Amino acid sequence: MPNTKGQSFYVTTPIFYVNDAPHIGHAYTEVASDVLARWHRQRGEQSFLLTGTDEHGEKILRTASANSVSPQEWADKLVSEAWLPLLETIDIDNQDFIRTTEPRHEKNVQKFLQNLYDTGFIYRGEFEGNYCVGCEEYKTEADLMPGEGAFAGQPVCAIHSKPVEKLAETNYFFKLSEFEQPLLDFYAANPKFIQPESARNEVVSFVRRGLTDLSISRSKEKFDWGIDIPWDDSHITYVWFDALLNYITAIGYGEDSAEAKAKFESLWPATVQVVGKDILRFHAVIWPAMLMAAGLPPAKQIFGHGWLLVGGEKMSKSKLTGIAPSQITDTFGSDAFRYYFMKAIAFGQDGSFSWEDLSARYQAELANGFGNLASRVVAMIHRYFDGVLPTPGAASEDDLKVQSVAAAAVANADAAIDEVAIQDALIAVWTLVDELNNYITVQEPWVLAKDEAMRERLGTVLYTAAEGLRILATLMAPVTPKVAEKLWSTVGQGSLGDLAAQPLSAAANWGQLKAGQAIGELEPLFPRIETDATEAK
Ligand code: ME8
Ligand code: MG
Repeated sequence: MPNTKGQSFYVTTPIFYVNDAPHIGHAYTEVASDVLARWHRQRGEQSFLLTGTDEHGEKILRTASANSVSPQEWADKLVSEAWLPLLETIDIDNQDFIRTTEPRHEKNVQKFLQNLYDTGFIYRGEFEGNYCVGCEEYKTEADLMPGEGAFAGQPVCAIHSKPVEKLAETNYFFKLSEFEQPLLDFYAANPKFIQPESARNEVVSFVRRGLTDLSISRSKEKFDWGIDIPWDDSHITYVWFDALLNYITAIGYGEDSAEAKAKFESLWPATVQVVGKDILRFHAVIWPAMLMAAGLPPAKQIFGHGWLLVGGEKMSKSKLTGIAPSQITDTFGSDAFRYYFMKAIAFGQDGSFSWEDLSARYQAELANGFGNLASRVVAMIHRYFDGVLPTPGAASEDDLKVQSVAAAAVANADAAIDEVAIQDALIAVWTLVDELNNYITVQEPWVLAKDEAMRERLGTVLYTAAEGLRILATLMAPVTPKVAEKLWSTVGQGSLGDLAAQPLSAAANWGQLKAGQAIGELEPLFPRIETDATEAK
């Protein structure tokens, strides 16, 4: 969605639990969010991507204990050895990384809580019910099922297949039930608040069934890894209530400096908060209600994406079906990783990962489709014009068609991004890849090159193709940043300076490359991959 004046594009990922190392499901959320952030930046907008880690709660405490270290030591280790390196592995350009154990977060979570307590949205009450530590979530009877195997005879969480904890505690409650009607009104007034449609429908019918108040604290008698309730230090904050607030504590909520206030004003409400559909209700029900209670606007959009499936099941840490992102990038590189997941799966729907599909798309779409196109055009400019971009003559109908396909590709891709339809954006970009490949086949520059009388025509064809590559480099910069940069330094840099300074909106304006500029050498953008490597598991 286009920004209102003065507002930055602000996109967030969930903050991930540090109980384990990331798998490609987490990387998927990161890449999608990064593509959106980079796309808006390439348009010339201010763009801010926030990601981070969720470090409190019973799950992290248990994992740390099982590894005989303190939860803080465990979190520090996982963040430095696994979660920060993930961002390098898949080439994420985030503007901040928040950890919920940082003072800037803890202190302002307490401020937020105190404010809600003072305004009467939090009260003390008795809680009795079930809690799943795997989900870090209170469970109703409907969320449970009969256990099997070692857990036969006990009710287990339907997601984790493990027994739930029976809790009977005095807790603090957030008056979530008061927000049933305000939320329904908000959804009605903001039809794009929850996307895709299926996610929106699911949430609306959930809220229509009625909301109960939410326990937002746990007694320290049970465990104490969390943020103290500011007015009662025998309780700690429920991990989700703590975690959701990262989206505002990271951008200055609660801070008094003019700088922090200005930052908060320019970024909140977030433009889009990307989450997996497992945590949609937290983000589309509890989170906006928390903000409403504090007198703050909810985000403009919560986008709930689908599952990566492996062998038909949701890939997960707890079920040990996780694939590490580096297993893919070590062979295919970060650009191919990013392209593959964005192109193969409609964002918002589930998608199956397979090595076969990845290899096939790498070969057909990236190596043969895009990479080979770039290599051929650059090689022909070297072979026929000594690496100097030729001057184009009058444009033929075929040349004009390339220009109009390029203009449509830019416009359609840009419009798709406004709908968070990343796959559609890439489909639009590929109309230009296909058109250019077809153009080269039909124009046969190698035939033109044999006839001195066709010299000007040959120049026109190669100039047209080079302009196509310039536009492709700009369009692909948000998705395959490394390869786009390589292509740009060969084709665009000499005429136009840095790729970052090329506004997407102007990318289709024809004729930006200057005839007479030197075209550099180009190594293959997507090198051939040995087949046995592609079969690695
Ligand atoms: O829920 N397919 O953290 P988490 C696609 N800390 N995406 C997947 C996936 C899969 N198979 N598996 C995981 C939490 N994800 C909380 C969030 S936010 C204030 C707190 C991604 O480590 C997806 O984005 O369990 C999902 O929502 C998230 O990882 C859950 O990560
Ligand atoms: Mg999870």
